[in-house]
Amino acid sequence: MIHDPEQLSLDVTADESVVKPNVSVSLGLIVTELVINALKHAFPDGRTGKIVVDYHARGPNWSLSVTDNGVGMPQDPADARPGLGTSIVEALARQLDAVVQVAAAHPGTAVTVARSQIAAVRPTAEAV
Ligand SMILES: Nc1ncnc2c1ncn2[C@@H]1O[C@H](COP(=O)(O)OP(=O)(O)OP(=O)(O)O)[C@@H](O)[C@H]1O
Ligand SMILES: [Mg+2]
Repeated sequence: MIHDPEQLSLDVTADESVVKPNVSVSLGLIVTELVINALKHAFPDGRTGKIVVDYHARGPNWSLSVTDNGVGMPQDPADARPGLGTSIVEALARQLDAVVQVAAAHPGTAVTVARSQIAAVRPTAEAV
């Protein structure tokens, strides 16, 4: 997919956490769409750059991000019209109880899909 590592590099960092098979399939589909987006849209005209994928989890919560240092999302909303990819990522994130955030990375774009459930706090014996 990347012919010249001098032109474009892909770095992946992930912790040792384990998820259920159905969750890993959804995470894989999300990563695929976001990395393809970076390859397709972030580096036009032979621009060089870097894509970084990070995944880490803590208890039931996790965060998956794909960041590039490309041209950034189009300024004109008409050019940034959501395609099928955006709908798929949103739908998969919803299934996983996660939220999608798209931010400017100066330069580039950072897309984070994160599940951040607040743990239920059980009252302690003294508090009851
Ligand atoms: N990493 C990125 N850098 C710059 N622009 C982006 C990036 N990711 C998405 N975009 C912009 O957001 C638009 C919507 O992305 P989306 O994935 O929904 O659709 P698409 O990639 O154009 O088509 P599809 O995903 O259906 O093949 C893109 O057309 C592009 O303009
Ligand atoms: Mg896309």
